[in-house]
Amino acid sequence: MIETMSDTAHLNVGDQNIEIPVITGTEGEKALDISKLRNSSGLITYDVGYKNTGATTSAITFLNGEEGILRYRGYSIEDLAEKADFLEVSYLLVNGELPSKDDLEKFKKKITMHTLLHEDTKNIFEAYPTGSHPMGQLMAMISSLSSFYPGSLNPYRENDERMLSIIRLIAKMPTMCAMIYKKQMGHPVMYPKNSLDYVENYLHMTFGNVTEEYEVDRTIADALDKLLILHADHEQNCSTSTVRIVGSSHVNLYAAVSAGVAALWGPLHGGANQKVIEMLEAIKADGGNYQKWVDKAKDKNDPFRLMGFGHRVYKNFDPRANIIKDSADKVLAKIGIHDPILDIAKKLEETALNDDYFKERKLFPNVDFYSGIIYRAMGFPTEMFTVLFALGRLPGWIAQWKEMRDEQQPIGRPRQVYTGSQSRDFVPMENR
Ligand code: SDX
Repeated sequence: MIETMSDTAHLNVGDQNIEIPVITGTEGEKALDISKLRNSSGLITYDVGYKNTGATTSAITFLNGEEGILRYRGYSIEDLAEKADFLEVSYLLVNGELPSKDDLEKFKKKITMHTLLHEDTKNIFEAYPTGSHPMGQLMAMISSLSSFYPGSLNPYRENDERMLSIIRLIAKMPTMCAMIYKKQMGHPVMYPKNSLDYVENYLHMTFGNVTEEYEVDRTIADALDKLLILHADHEQNCSTSTVRIVGSSHVNLYAAVSAGVAALWGPLHGGANQKVIEMLEAIKADGGNYQKWVDKAKDKNDPFRLMGFGHRVYKNFDPRANIIKDSADKVLAKIGIHDPILDIAKKLEETALNDDYFKERKLFPNVDFYSGIIYRAMGFPTEMFTVLFALGRLPGWIAQWKEMRDEQQPIGRPRQVYTGSQSRDFVPMENR
């Protein structure tokens, strides 16, 4: 919804003088509104990777890459990470306002009542070979919810069905993530307990077992709750843009979010948190020769990149990485773990940040650089790290999907500039 229209830009192309409205967001960002450009001039714009293109207006998350600002619905990530819990932030992202005490209690109660999965969900696992990547399983499980809840398929049935689909997905995500872990370990599935809160329940279903009562370590639960908040939304990143464009076809929420999980899986996006640990392990095995690996990352003939470094938007620092780095020290100390990988990560950061190549390109640790070290200290295997990213990002995906649907945005269908063969006659086989 474009609320503020101010100024007009003039574009001269050949003998055309094209007037383009300029829109201004609530934080003063300006954009050329080209919604009518092709109709008025026959021209389109070209921007591979959408580095300069705004796909939508949005009231959910604001980030300023130059100043390292990140706010959900106007509240700073620093405040939310310190003062709120993950379900409170999920409510904020989806509904737009912080919940009253009563609203939050009702929201949490609804979530608690929907944590169970249909028993047939387990059959999905029987089809998967042991050792298959958890993100592939998560995609299938989320998408399967539309089979178990066919009411979600009707995109035109308004809000109560839509809100029920949202509640079910937030509620069942930890159960699915924990079930994936248990399958990976070859252990029996643990069921949710209504007496536990959201993160406690996830830890209980993940690390608890049928032989003894699982005691939730509050240090770990609090640290995980904070990590989920830090991952909860990040405006129009790759996976969120995927959820929006898939959802714009009016497919159900579960299918759109399953597509978002696919995008997040990629090593350039959420999959980086797994790759960071694998990279740090390789550097450790190689004797900790940091400069050698930094030089590899700079070498254009070497496909190696410093995983967990660089960001499309942040050009000074990623505020989430700073919070996670501080948290890593505290959590490992509280759990009583000394992980040499953390020291290697810090030394690698120091080496890279003193290297002109990284300084010139404004490359520094992003949200994925230190998060895996904490997940590992909590006991999660590396291949579960991106599943944890998805668990955190879920309310953001849902909020962005809901905003796009509430605004009845059109189906996403970009244009192109054709560079293939011009018209030519068919060549019979005998002449090829
Ligand atoms: C996330 O968008 C979001 O908000 C994402 C996210 C979220 O919360 O949703 O923040 C989560 O995905 C974080 C990013 C995780 N990915 C990684 O850590 C993978 C490593 N990083 C990169 O591949 C890269 O930095 C990206 C993908 C994050 C950003 O890529 P861009 O913006 O397309 O930048 P680019 O690839 O064009 O790089 C610009 C220059 C290039 O060099 P030159 O051509 O100018 O000589 O910087 C270099 C790149 O080669 N470069 C790197 C590098 N990242 C960029 N060189 C070495 N190591 C790196 N990590």
